[in-house]
Amino acid sequence: MCGIIGYVGAGVTRGAGEDADEETGGDRLAVGDVIHQGLRNLEYRGYDSAGVALVGETSGLTVAKRSGEVDGLTVPEVPDAAHGIGHTRWSTHGPPTDANAHPHTDCVGDVAVVHNGIVENHETLKAELSDHAFTSDTDTEVIPHLLEEELSGETEASAADDGGDAESDLLAAVQRVEDRLEGSYAICAVREGDDRIVVARRGSPLVLGRGEDASFVASDVTAFLEHTRDVTYLEDGDVAAIAPGSVDIFADGEPVEREIETVTWEANAAEKGGYDHYMRKEIHEQPEALRQTLAGRLDVDAGDVDLDVSFPPGFLADLEEIRIVACGTSYYAGRYAARLFEEYAGVRTTVEIASEYEFGAGRTPDRTLVVAVTQSGETADTLGAVRRANAAGARTFAVTNTLGSTVTREVDGTAFIRAGPEIGVAATKTFASQVATLAMLSVAVGRDRGALAAADARTVLEDLRGLPGAVQQVLDEEAAVREAAREYRDSEAFFFVGRALGVPVALEGALKLKEISYDHAEGFAAGELKHGPLALVTPDTPVLAVLTEGGRARETMNNVTEAQTRGAPALGCVTAGSEFDTLDVAFEVPDVGVVEPLVANVYLQLFAYHVANEKGRPIDKPRNLAKSVTVE
Ligand code: F6R
Repeated sequence: MCGIIGYVGAGVTRGAGEDADEETGGDRLAVGDVIHQGLRNLEYRGYDSAGVALVGETSGLTVAKRSGEVDGLTVPEVPDAAHGIGHTRWSTHGPPTDANAHPHTDCVGDVAVVHNGIVENHETLKAELSDHAFTSDTDTEVIPHLLEEELSGETEASAADDGGDAESDLLAAVQRVEDRLEGSYAICAVREGDDRIVVARRGSPLVLGRGEDASFVASDVTAFLEHTRDVTYLEDGDVAAIAPGSVDIFADGEPVEREIETVTWEANAAEKGGYDHYMRKEIHEQPEALRQTLAGRLDVDAGDVDLDVSFPPGFLADLEEIRIVACGTSYYAGRYAARLFEEYAGVRTTVEIASEYEFGAGRTPDRTLVVAVTQSGETADTLGAVRRANAAGARTFAVTNTLGSTVTREVDGTAFIRAGPEIGVAATKTFASQVATLAMLSVAVGRDRGALAAADARTVLEDLRGLPGAVQQVLDEEAAVREAAREYRDSEAFFFVGRALGVPVALEGALKLKEISYDHAEGFAAGELKHGPLALVTPDTPVLAVLTEGGRARETMNNVTEAQTRGAPALGCVTAGSEFDTLDVAFEVPDVGVVEPLVANVYLQLFAYHVANEKGRPIDKPRNLAKSVTVE
C-alpha cells in the first residue's frame, strides 16, 4: 500500500488567507515542495522509500529518489517545473533500496511513473520487453517501458491509432498500456515535453483535487487537503489527464463526467481519511489490503498459488510437523491457519504462544518447519522462539507485514502479507491478511506434497478470491453493528464462542473488545461453555457467536441456546440464508466457504470499535499497550 501524488500548477502560497503576511501573502511553495509536503501527508501508507519526478519546459524530466523516509529525500530545485509526481513506498516486490524506489523511468528517461498496487503479470510483460534495460526488482518498472514502446510507435496498436505516426500521445499510450496490465493498481505518468499528468485507476484508490489554476491527484485526499477541498473520486477503469485547472476523465476510451464533492473533514481528521480513528480506517481498508495480499498469487484454474517461496528439494514431502509461533492476534491467525495446514497440507500442525515455545524432545528438527507469524517482524517473544528453533536446527519461516524487519533476516524464508502500514495499536487488517497468506501457504504446501487435489484447491482459492468482496459487504452493514454496540455497551462482560475455525475468531473478537473498550471479554470453544464458564452467564453477559460455514454452526448454536436459557442475549454471525431465528441479533456473512469465519471477524472488529467509541476510549492507543512489543 504505497502513497502517490501528482500536482500540476504554478506552486501554491502557504499561509495565504486570513493569517497571511499582507505584503507577501505567505511563503511561496514550488511544485517540488507541494509534492514533498503531500508525501509527508501520505507517509502513513508506507515509508520504505520516497521519490519525485518534476517536469519543466526547458529543464525536462528530473527524478530524485532514495530509500528511507520522506524527510530524508532532498527534492531538487527545478525553477521551471510546472508539474510533477511523487511516491512513498510500502515494499511488495523487491527490497526497500534506492533502485526500487519510485518513480521508475523508461530506457531513455523521457517518461516517469509512480504506482500503487501490484502488476500481476509483470514477469510475462518483462519477458516481452527483453530489449529494454531494467534497473529495479519492481513490478512497476514494466509500465514506463511499455509506455516507451507505445510512445515510439513500436506497437501495432499505437501505429494504427496514430495513422502510422511514430510519436504517440501520453494519454492514448496509458490507455493502451492499461489494457495490458493485470492486477490492481493506481498509476500516475509524466513525460518530458507534455504538460499533463496522466493517471489510471483499477482496484487501488485514486482521487483528483480540483483547484482553480491547479490540479492534484493522490491515493488519498490527505495528500492535498490543505490546497483544495473539491475532489473527484475516480472509478475503476478510469483514465484521466490533468492539467492546471482542467481534468479530462475517460472510461473505455470515452469522455465521462464524474461528480465533484467537497470534503468537509477538519484537518486533524484528514490524516485518518475522514475516520475518527486509525483503527476504524484500517478496518475499512481490509478489502484493499486483502486484494494486495492475494494479488498475483492465486492461480485458480490450475488450483495452485505462487507465493514466491521455495524450500529445499524433498523438504516438504518429508515434512513431519509444522509449528506456528506467534503472540496475541498473530497467534490467533496461527490457530486459524493450523486447521488449514492439517486439512490441506496433511501435516500435523501445532500453534504455540511464542514466549512459551521450546523445541522440545522427541522431535526431528530437519523434518520440522517453524512458522513465525508476526505483523511487525520485531516482537521480542516471537524472535526468541525463532532463535530457539534455529538453534535446534529446524527450518524457520516468517509470515510478516514488514520488509527488512528483524524476523526476515533470521529465518530461512518469508511470505509477506502486504497489508500496508497499520497504525492503530489493535491489529485488524493485518489479521485478515495474515490468515489469507497462511491459507495460501497451506494450499501451496498441500499441492507440493500431493496432499491436496487440484479440484479441492480450486474451491479454497475461489473462496479466497471472494474474500475482499465479502468483507466489503460486511463493512456496508456497519450501522447495524453500531446499533448493537449501543444496545449492549454497558453489559457486565462479553463472551465470544465458536467451534473449529470459529474458535480463533472468538478468541480474537474477545481480545479486540477487551484491549480497546477495557471491558471484560473472553473467548471460548463453544463446547467448553458447559464445562465451567456457563457459571458466569447472566442476562447481563451477551454471547457473541460465530455461526458460519467452517465453524460447525449447528453445534455452536446448541451451546448458544444453553446460554440463552440462562438469560444471556445472543448475537451471531451467520452464513447468509441460514436460519437461526432465535438469535437476538443476526449479522449475515456472505457465502465464501472456508473463509467465512474470517469475514465474521470483521463484524466483531466493528462491534469492539463501536463499544469502545461509545465509551470514549482512546481507541488507537489503548492504555498500557504498544504497537510493537520489543521486550520479553
Ligand atoms: C492485538 C495486537 C497484539 C499483536 C501482538 C503480536 O490487537 O495487535 O496482540 O498481535 O503483539 O504482534 P506482532 O504481530 O507484530 O508480532
